[in-house]
Amino acid sequence: MKQEKSEGRTITEVVKDLEAQQKKNKVVNPVLQQVLEQVAAVQTRMSRVKHKIAVMSGKGGVGKSSVTVNLAHSFAARGYKVGILDVDLSGPCIPKMMGVRDRALKITAEGAQPAIGVNGIKVASMELMLPDEGSPVMWKGLWEDSAVWRGTVEMSVIREFISDVNWGPLDLLLIDMPPASSDKPPIISQMIPDLDGAVIVTIPSEISQFIVKKSVVFLSRELKIPIIGLIENMSGAICPHCGEALELFEDASHGESPLQKMGLPLLGRVPFDRRIASCADQGRSFVDEHPLTPAAQAFRIITDSLQQHIESRRPS
Ligand SMILES: Nc1ncnc2c1ncn2[C@@H]1O[C@H](COP(=O)(O)OP(=O)(O)OP(=O)(O)O)[C@@H](O)[C@H]1O
Ligand SMILES: [Mg+2]
Repeated sequence: MKQEKSEGRTITEVVKDLEAQQKKNKVVNPVLQQVLEQVAAVQTRMSRVKHKIAVMSGKGGVGKSSVTVNLAHSFAARGYKVGILDVDLSGPCIPKMMGVRDRALKITAEGAQPAIGVNGIKVASMELMLPDEGSPVMWKGLWEDSAVWRGTVEMSVIREFISDVNWGPLDLLLIDMPPASSDKPPIISQMIPDLDGAVIVTIPSEISQFIVKKSVVFLSRELKIPIIGLIENMSGAICPHCGEALELFEDASHGESPLQKMGLPLLGRVPFDRRIASCADQGRSFVDEHPLTPAAQAFRIITDSLQQHIESRRPS
């Protein structure tokens, strides 16, 4: 897909303008001051992270988090120092999938230290800041009455959270996003400098492809986030009894999908394998434990393409 040149203003540019206005009017806006500090903190921290890929979709439940953790393990197996940022505030599940649910983020003078999971993968999630595992991620107060207020509070929580995490040096940060129709992608594209791009997870159903098409347009045209490619998850299944390949979705023709017709490269198709779900539930690495399965092979093929993409974009 032809990527448009980024013309959208980054948060740094917006902040620069506001700073200039602040100087001119000789007033210090405390909220702006806080945003400035957060942006500066993120930029410093992110300068130690070589590559950043966001994992997105237009619909919930299509397997973004599962894809994120399996890609993280595949990259770690290739010697990459990997981190996962879980931006999902309403249903964060990366800590469980990475087996770090009991490890609260340690707050030090340098910031919040990510939890370290299987294969040395660093994990930061709002869930790891909650008092106990049963606590819902929510804030009570005025915002219960107003969607706008709720959105504003959420945004500032995400901004504060991103700026607080001290990743240290990383080769790759994978960002597990809530569905792209939400208001979270803008803040990610503004806060995280030099995003290598996004991978879009979809499933082979027409409705999912239709919704994903909308979010692809939103991400690439409105937010100028480069789309690296598409991952089709739950793309058929292998019968555990007879080994026969089954289609999970009616009319799931493996021809060119509406998304591929838009020019998006298909990075790979991951079949349904119930061991992906059971490994995730137990915080174990599916790709390491079942390396010979078609699904693990698909994750390796996707990792090959992503590795090629990021390394050719900015040699490390
Ligand atoms: N290829 C697969 N084979 C078997 N189970 C899968 C596969 N992909 C995902 N799952 C399971 O489907 C469920 C939803 O997956 P997941 O949580 O990764 O989706 P999501 O897109 O991150 O959801 P959300 O939008 O809520 O964040 C989980 O139980 C997961 O284990
Ligand atoms: Mg998820």
